[in-house]
Amino acid sequence: MNVWKITGGHRLCGDVRVQGSKNAVLPIMAASILAGCETEIINCPQLSDVEAAMEILRHLGCRAEREGDIVNIDSHGMTRTDIPRDLMHEMRSSVIFLGAILARTHEAQLTYPGGCELGARPIDMHLEALRALGAQIEEDGGKLECRDSGLVGTRIALPFPSVGATENAMLAACGAAGQTTIVNAAKEPEIVDLQCFLRSLGASVAGAGTSIVTISGFAPRQIVGHRVMSDRIVSATMLCCAACAGGALTLHGVVPDDFETVSAALEEMGCTIERRSMSVKIVCDRPLRAARAITTRPYPGFPTDAQPLLMAACLKAAGTSEFMENIFENRFRHVDGMRRMGADIAVSGRTASVTGVRELAGAEVSATDLRGGAALVAAALGAQGVTQIADSGHILRGYEDLDRLLNSLGADVRFEGEEPLSLENAM
Ligand code: UD1
Repeated sequence: MNVWKITGGHRLCGDVRVQGSKNAVLPIMAASILAGCETEIINCPQLSDVEAAMEILRHLGCRAEREGDIVNIDSHGMTRTDIPRDLMHEMRSSVIFLGAILARTHEAQLTYPGGCELGARPIDMHLEALRALGAQIEEDGGKLECRDSGLVGTRIALPFPSVGATENAMLAACGAAGQTTIVNAAKEPEIVDLQCFLRSLGASVAGAGTSIVTISGFAPRQIVGHRVMSDRIVSATMLCCAACAGGALTLHGVVPDDFETVSAALEEMGCTIERRSMSVKIVCDRPLRAARAITTRPYPGFPTDAQPLLMAACLKAAGTSEFMENIFENRFRHVDGMRRMGADIAVSGRTASVTGVRELAGAEVSATDLRGGAALVAAALGAQGVTQIADSGHILRGYEDLDRLLNSLGADVRFEGEEPLSLENAM
């Protein structure tokens, strides 16, 4: 069990180069098998989820190697079409490989990824999209047997703009004859990054970032390079950490629009935000007031992944901040740890009301999921005394060297347990 020991009360000051996006790189790594070519993925964060994706690629018979922040993949010699249960369970998003394996080989054997800490997380929309393209999928005791005798482009209308189902449909459609149109597609920036990579691979894709995405042909190339977008949720995390601890941070290499809803909420609470073309500066030098009502929605709405983080920033803000969670059924699990630190939070169904308290006090808490864990880190930075966060590997799934980064900005964070993966260790 990893433990984070955080002594609060230190302001954060300095510059941050934000890591590459976890949620963008995972579908890009899956897509790398489509063309049977060599790909160089730059700005690839060193995270346990990325390591899991590399393990899947190696299991499939691809070469996958890291050198610093670059991951090189050669999928030319792909020999297998299955993903074993332990790899599927290591990372729920491994289901994203399904569309890519089918497109490349016309058969795939996976296990159901199962639920996760945020709730049931079904994959019915993924499977329906692949069936619409002509895949035959049999579900048997948690196993998925998939095959097709040639995928054929079609119109796929998603009942909800699911990020993963949109990505899976885009990957499978690259192996389909004719045009595929995905209607009610997710509009997240990571979908745009995937489109960018697919175009480099030789696919004709258009519309990412809008609700209609079309895929109409694939002429594979041999060698492909791509720079992964910066992680908008890590950007949101750093802004919220600054709001909790006070101080001034400048985030570099970011696209301000990607996390504008979070910046705007913090601005309304009393933080000063300066946006430039590739950087955002936050200054927090006075007490904050409550946030306007926050309702999580698909992009460009307020991201569910940032909900626990903004909640951390509201714990000491004067007044009552209301949060409505619309995406995941079980996304208030961080509330228990926040209450242990002295927070005043009332939860009723999908709504949480946070009434600002004068001070938070360090406590012993547990990270129950990735962003909820990061939110406890943020809250601890603004609490008096020491907070001890027990974490069974959640935070490291999404944050590269978080303890070192926060310490370099003035925080006092000690990480005990399995050393976090770091670029230095990798080289
Ligand atoms: C992705 C992100 C995750 C983020 C989420 C929403 C990755 C690796 N993860 O997850 O960080 O929180 O988008 O922005 O990119 N659903 C179904 N059936 C399906 C698929 C989804 O009912 O077949 C439901 C989910 O249970 C959830 C909602 O749709 O309630 C949104 O899920 P989705 O957009 O698919 O999220 P993910 O792609 O899993």
